[in-house]
Amino acid sequence: MGPHPLWLLEELCEHMDLKPGMKVLDMGCGKGLTSVFLAKEFGVTVFANDLWISATDNLRRFEDAGVADKVFPIHAEAHALPYAAGFFDAAISIDSYHYYGTDEMYFPCTYAKLVKPGGQFGIAVPGLVREYEKGYPDTLEEYWDEDMFTFHSKEWWRNLWEKTGIVEITACYEVEDPKGIWMPWAEWSETHRGSNEVKFLNADTNNDLALIIMSAVKK
Ligand SMILES: C[S@@+](CC[C@H](N)C(=O)[O-])C[C@H]1O[C@@H](n2cnc3c(N)ncnc32)[C@H](O)[C@@H]1O
Repeated sequence: MGPHPLWLLEELCEHMDLKPGMKVLDMGCGKGLTSVFLAKEFGVTVFANDLWISATDNLRRFEDAGVADKVFPIHAEAHALPYAAGFFDAAISIDSYHYYGTDEMYFPCTYAKLVKPGGQFGIAVPGLVREYEKGYPDTLEEYWDEDMFTFHSKEWWRNLWEKTGIVEITACYEVEDPKGIWMPWAEWSETHRGSNEVKFLNADTNNDLALIIMSAVKK
């Protein structure tokens, strides 16, 4: 449903310490590819939480993948999550956190509470190499959509979490070759949904677009 989620997850997991039996929130899991990968690769128990995709459809996918005993599909909105505080050992989110997590209150008042002390957070989000006063570089003006105002720099993301004092940031950087990771999705999206995503990526002639990885540990 976006820039290759498994490539991004593999990169993110380089900075996380996931062990069998841990409880992991896959926030905004979409069709749950990342949830299946987490269960199979690390032996963790996954709560595959999404809004746009039905939990029943995801259950079928988890059954087909043979992980329905380890991956639980949940349909819940980011501001109304049904989990106890301190329930998770880790919360990861691939190409999703920017939809709800740019609000200054979201991390300290909601998301951070879900993970126990010493637990881990990891996100991969689309963003920009630097901040622009008007929100985006001139090169992208023609294809810029309202929801892209959630695209920010790695420094912006680090500051959003670091200033809360709740976590220590363990990694925050731009993935190499972001367009190589983004393009297969853009091509699919242009072919099957008539989107402008390939044109959008090709318009980025100054390489201002980024895919940002950030991980943190709760103090
Ligand atoms: C671009 S898709 C990415 C899905 C998947 N992680 C992937 O990489 O293929 C973004 C996901 O974020 C979820 N999402 C967006 N806003 C949300 C919200 N307010 N609460 C919960 N999930 C949300 C959507 O349901 C959607 O599946």
